[in-house]
Amino acid sequence: MKRIGIIGTGSELPERIVPNSYFEKIVDTSDEWIVTRTGIQTRRMVKPGQGLSDLATPASEKALEMAGISAGDLDMIVVGTTSSDMATPSAGCIIQHRLGAKKAVAFDVNAACPGFIYGLAIAQKFMQDDSCRYALVVGGEIVSNRIDYKDRATCVLFGDGAGAAVLGPSGQNGDGEILNVSIRSDGDLWSLIHLPGGGSLNPPSQKMLDEGLHHLKMQGNEVFKYAVRTMVESSRSVMASEGITSEEIDWFIPHQANIRIMDTVAERLGIPKEKVIVTVHKYGNTSAGTIPTALDESVRSGKIRRGDLVLISSFGAGLAWGAALFRY
Ligand code: ACO
Repeated sequence: MKRIGIIGTGSELPERIVPNSYFEKIVDTSDEWIVTRTGIQTRRMVKPGQGLSDLATPASEKALEMAGISAGDLDMIVVGTTSSDMATPSAGCIIQHRLGAKKAVAFDVNAACPGFIYGLAIAQKFMQDDSCRYALVVGGEIVSNRIDYKDRATCVLFGDGAGAAVLGPSGQNGDGEILNVSIRSDGDLWSLIHLPGGGSLNPPSQKMLDEGLHHLKMQGNEVFKYAVRTMVESSRSVMASEGITSEEIDWFIPHQANIRIMDTVAERLGIPKEKVIVTVHKYGNTSAGTIPTALDESVRSGKIRRGDLVLISSFGAGLAWGAALFRY
């Protein structure tokens, strides 16, 4: 099997920083509740008129620059997102256009938070059989304009952001290699996190807006339990497939939704806190954006170095979940 590695990373967060105090003014909440129950202190939000591609394009450009290849070299662009600029075409095609990645096939994967891991799994398959030499995998979301600012149980949790990784033949920029990727889903649990408006069942209409169907709905408590279970299971699965134990993991990047979920998952896996990458306090939950942005920050700050063994794991609406193990 051909060896595939991550040869470049990039990320882009909006400039606007929104502290917890913003929500104290609009719903019955407190900075103390949000910090204690979620670990979130601030999140970033786009300005009106900014779409996903306004974050994903610069994130991709940075990843291409680090990889040392040009957009024209890309054979594939996979974007994990549920918030592309328009309902159609895909965010992948818009990003392709903005990058000038003429020969790439471009498309989106709607897998909510684990969208980046789904993208890795898909790109890796196409690269292993030589259909594709270089792929750009993006994970990003604009959540701030899809939440109900009257619902204290959801509005405090989310932020906007996008990250990207360029995949290429292993050994090119070091010795990185994607070792194992696992993706799973359980549609029986679709109603735990959903956004009913704007699709074919509830197309855009005044009625849809009046009923608030354009807002994200989530049964936080139930989701919490499944999040812990699925992230632990998929992390164990990718480690077991490679005969790797949790002591060997250098860095763990869990989906950044809630520090209590992250702590519980790390504890159950036996990964010490010092090895867990945390960005949820400053960016909140950016859905598919959390893992690639955290990865990029950790690479650029020198925390994650070439040769380190990295475990990533995520879950979200679908329910969908997954994990990947790679040597950076
Ligand atoms: N401020 C103050 N009180 C609040 C707030 C708030 N912002 N939100 C909820 N509460 C209240 C509730 O109303 C409830 O009050 P009650 O006891 O009087 O009924 C109390 O706090 C406890 O509510 P719980 O829902 O039990 O609180 P919990 O500790 O579970 O925290 C949370 C809620 C943060 C949502 C948590 O369940 C969670 O993080 N769940 C997972 C969410 C997630 O990770 N989603 C990721 C996927 S998102 C995607 O795919 C796009």
